[in-house]
Amino acid sequence: MTSHTPVSELLSLKDRVAVVTGAAEGIGAGIARRLAEAGAKVWITDIDIDRAAATAAELVEAGYEAEAAELNVLEPDSFAALEESLRSRDLVPTIWVNNAGSYPKRAALELTATDWDRAQNINTRSAFLGAQVAGRMMVEASTPGVILNLSSIAGVRLAPANPIDYATAKAGVAMLTRNLGVEWGKYGIRVVGLAPGFVVTPGVRRTPGVNARIGNPASVPALGRQMVEDDVAKAALFLVSEMAAMISSEILVVDGGGAWNLESPSTAANR
Ligand SMILES: NC(=O)c1ccc[n+]([C@@H]2O[C@H](COP(=O)([O-])OP(=O)(O)OC[C@H]3O[C@@H](n4cnc5c(N)ncnc54)[C@H](O)[C@@H]3O)[C@@H](O)[C@H]2O)c1
Repeated sequence: MTSHTPVSELLSLKDRVAVVTGAAEGIGAGIARRLAEAGAKVWITDIDIDRAAATAAELVEAGYEAEAAELNVLEPDSFAALEESLRSRDLVPTIWVNNAGSYPKRAALELTATDWDRAQNINTRSAFLGAQVAGRMMVEASTPGVILNLSSIAGVRLAPANPIDYATAKAGVAMLTRNLGVEWGKYGIRVVGLAPGFVVTPGVRRTPGVNARIGNPASVPALGRQMVEDDVAKAALFLVSEMAAMISSEILVVDGGGAWNLESPSTAANR
């Protein structure tokens, strides 16, 4: 019989360093809070360093370990600078969450090549660049860990009301996750993904068109209430913890059972 590790130990992230991108607010901040609560020292990285610092300060105030660092996921040099700061402190992140992303707003006929590139770069290339820093540091230190990528329901299923540049970028995040998990399995590194349904976050509130779904009964999932950041954060904690020790190359859907009312019957039939 295998040894029995208590659940509290399996969920503990004590002595782990976790980096979360786009963690100043929204889903990233929610994930950072749960990881910190589980004992990780969390690096709140964001393009907005002032808000990142405020979020880190809130966690420290709550008794957790957190630090803020500037990171623009659109800039490879910015990843290099973050890697350098971690190395200068002799820290090896064994949890890395590629969360930063954005919401494109245009319909296919209005999309420009610039819109397209931005959607791919902020959602997909950023996840690759982040994973590469994390993977390199873990392999060099012989300290395997876990990389968690934020895909979306739009990237794994045919979901309505999602612009095509965003949907294809998030599908890219899903395949990046699956393939990296295979490539890096030999190092003991797990690569996993989350595909959330609609969550009302600050980014959603700010985005015209997307924010029109707030309060719309048709966007409430089968389980009967709108999702909040912590619904995604709790799933993130499970996936990065030892509870998920043999889960890799997998994308977990967190969508409250789906917002079926949003879909036309023909769309649903395509699933
Ligand atoms: N909210 C949803 O309904 C939903 C659903 C599925 C997937 N997602 C994905 O979850 C992730 C988080 O979404 P959210 O709704 O919390 O977003 P949000 O817009 O509320 O927060 C995003 C955070 O990322 C930061 N950010 C923006 N550009 C950045 C950059 N270039 N570099 C670094 N940080 C940057 C912002 O400052 C902000 O703190 C995204 O990848 C999003 O695509 C969200």
